[in-house]
Amino acid sequence: MRMVDVIQKKRNGNELTKEEINFFIEGYTKGEIPDYQASALMMAIYFNGMKSNETATLTQAMVESGETIDLTAIEGHKVDKHSTGGVGDKTTFIVGPLVASVGVPVAKMSGRGLGHTGGTLDKLESIKGFHIEMTKEEFVNNVNTHKLSVAGQTGNLAPADKKLYALRDVTATVDSIPLIAGSIMSKKLASGADSIVLDVKTGSGAFMKKLEDSESLAREMVNIGNNLGRNTVAVISDMNQPLGFEVGNANEVREACQVLQGENIEDLRLLSLELASHMTVLAGAFDDFDSAYKTLEQNLQNGKAFESFRTLVKAQGGDVSVIDDLTKLPQSKYHIEVTAEQDGYVSEIDAESIGVAAMYLGAGRATKDDQINHGVGITLKKKVGDQVTKGEVLVVLHSDDEEPTNSIEKINEAYSLSKEAREKHQLIYKVIN
Ligand code: URA
Repeated sequence: MRMVDVIQKKRNGNELTKEEINFFIEGYTKGEIPDYQASALMMAIYFNGMKSNETATLTQAMVESGETIDLTAIEGHKVDKHSTGGVGDKTTFIVGPLVASVGVPVAKMSGRGLGHTGGTLDKLESIKGFHIEMTKEEFVNNVNTHKLSVAGQTGNLAPADKKLYALRDVTATVDSIPLIAGSIMSKKLASGADSIVLDVKTGSGAFMKKLEDSESLAREMVNIGNNLGRNTVAVISDMNQPLGFEVGNANEVREACQVLQGENIEDLRLLSLELASHMTVLAGAFDDFDSAYKTLEQNLQNGKAFESFRTLVKAQGGDVSVIDDLTKLPQSKYHIEVTAEQDGYVSEIDAESIGVAAMYLGAGRATKDDQINHGVGITLKKKVGDQVTKGEVLVVLHSDDEEPTNSIEKINEAYSLSKEAREKHQLIYKVIN
């Protein structure tokens, strides 16, 4: 088989066979197919798409390009959650303890972040002493004993995706539905969960800006999961503004703890309950969504979910007093208010610009060697639909720099005000299963 023929076939809009897809993935992973041919194929897929069965074959080939994690030593039905990425998305810290609070095991493998804020692991390290280094046996033991553990991604999961994602990033081929679906699902499938709940974001701060594209991506991923033997549900949720009010590392842990302690931070609380309910139904802990939702809601109010989080923190070396008293989380030196320049209503908050403003403060990494500053971040004081008067505070920047000019500029870019009130965005658009 010749790679040039595979490229030509896709360029002409034809369907690739399993043999052709396997030939490409195996050859590319081993370094036998060069980047320029892989780039040409990515661009051909970008323009001509893939049929669902081709995408499933591509995904399976990427799973088989590396190691897969065997979670069979963990008792019970393991459900994983994945978000396609958004600003202020700290649902993992609420969903994990919620699901564990009804006895469903959560074996979470997470990464460090490159971009706006840290990843799940970076955020958790805002809690003094919290560590994610453990042997596979300790991880399994922790989940069996406490129903919840968070470890760093180990092993060589889906190396074909790692190479292809880096290539797509520099060849303008990231935002292709079959390529995103295959990329995300290959990593999820290799991580060994029995069922998967996907939080597919839609809106200005998401990969997919339009609802119909988000829905196509969600359907594609649900098909892949179900075809490859994992029950998969996708929730399409809003990313036209950051989720909750806090962006940053300690900031996001703080807000998640507030929800776990029963506070009603509406969008964050509702989305977490939605995702956790689907997870526990897939795990067989409840017969239907409504009864799952009701019990999980109670577990937020009665402290059981927070107790699960405390247990996780304690088991992984963290100082529990930090989450009991949130003022002990890392803090920045300065708190700088950015105010409205006119009267009006908030009509848009570009989530990506808020994310970049947080990164400029030091909450994220521009390159993989950058150090995260856990104490810096952003508190939104106004969200879409809120009325503001000139001089009123839009956001507070938690900064170690007395004059964070770049971040202030980004905040001003992010907020749009209009004369008339606009309708609030819907939080959950659709559930696909
Ligand atoms: N996240 C991934 O892991 N892969 C993509 O292609 C896009 C987002």
